[in-house]
Amino acid sequence: MSGMNTEIVKVDAANIDETVIEKAADIIKNGGLVAFPTETVYGLGANALDADASKKIYEAKGRPSDNPLIAHIASLDTLDEIVEDVSDVAKKLIDKFWPGPMTLIFNKKPNVPDSTTGGLDTLAVRFPSNEIAMELIKKSGVPIAAPSANTSGKPSPTKGEHVIEDLDGKVDMIIDGGEVGLGLESTIIDVTGEPTILRPGFITQEMLEQVIEEVKLDQTILEKPTEDFAPKAPGMKYRHYAPKADLIIVRGEANKVADWIIKEAAKSDKKTAILTVNQHIDFYEGKANDSIVASWGDLNDMEDIAHKVFNWLRKIDEMGIDIVYCEAFEEEGLGLAVMNRLTKAAGYQVIDV
Ligand code: TXA
Ligand code: MG
Repeated sequence: MSGMNTEIVKVDAANIDETVIEKAADIIKNGGLVAFPTETVYGLGANALDADASKKIYEAKGRPSDNPLIAHIASLDTLDEIVEDVSDVAKKLIDKFWPGPMTLIFNKKPNVPDSTTGGLDTLAVRFPSNEIAMELIKKSGVPIAAPSANTSGKPSPTKGEHVIEDLDGKVDMIIDGGEVGLGLESTIIDVTGEPTILRPGFITQEMLEQVIEEVKLDQTILEKPTEDFAPKAPGMKYRHYAPKADLIIVRGEANKVADWIIKEAAKSDKKTAILTVNQHIDFYEGKANDSIVASWGDLNDMEDIAHKVFNWLRKIDEMGIDIVYCEAFEEEGLGLAVMNRLTKAAGYQVIDV
């Protein structure tokens, strides 16, 4: 798709070209769209205080307009300009985890337009730690509303190429800062009432509970939302991160999981793939000859696995695979965030064996 002439510029985070950032900041100030790297995933940015600018984000992504945006800031003074009631709990989390991959939900001030918050009275705010993101926000002089820079429904972008694939011709500028550091979106915590994780991420429940007393988990993190059981983060109700392939997650003891997958894959005459880990790959050796067997890597390195989730989801489609069987991970620590993204990508097809 094309329409706009998108300027694509490579920027090295270790040696930032300030003229590029100034140009990008001018685009933001003038109500345009700039895609930029953050430490989690790429974001698609616009001035969060400009109603028309944030509307353009929804058009470029094909995003439903009831799905609110995260405002990105680069100083705590900006926080006070856009939200009310920053509680002591919120202050403790900010002290410990900002700048970084944590988004907090506050009550918004009236200057934040409805098109940024999808009509909600609350606003999601994040202070990213990526240098390019920080420079861009500072130079723009406004909070930058930025969802992940993918077409709505596709996996979040972790590389410049992903953003170009989805948004070339639809935005004014794409800053290609290479591969992002973390690869999963930020942890979202609602701090307007009892602190509750709405979307798990690198900052885990365990890490949060070392700083504040108790953090709840929204029920829809792993369970399928229903009409009377809606997720508090509106975006979590959409089929997300979805590859075109049918993704099936299989949970249980590793050898039983492998036996089940091998049998199912053998029954199918479609192009199948199996996603396992180094520790379990022997279970498949010589037994799954019609499937592609791939490993996430070391089961004990969840950071590495988390980093690869969106990459795999995009690669599956590039390889033209019809059905992917994926071993489940333990739903604790970072495993919860990985399972949250995989479960949604699978349209909640999780099979216990
Ligand atoms: O790491 C990240 O958070 C990335 C980078 C670019 O910062 N951004 C990101 O944005 O993942 P997005 O739009 O893809 O996801 C934001 C999520 C959505 O599920 C949305 O519904 C939820 O945050 N959200 C935003 N504002 C909210 C609010 N006021 N209340 C509840 N949920 C909210
Ligand atoms: Mg997203």
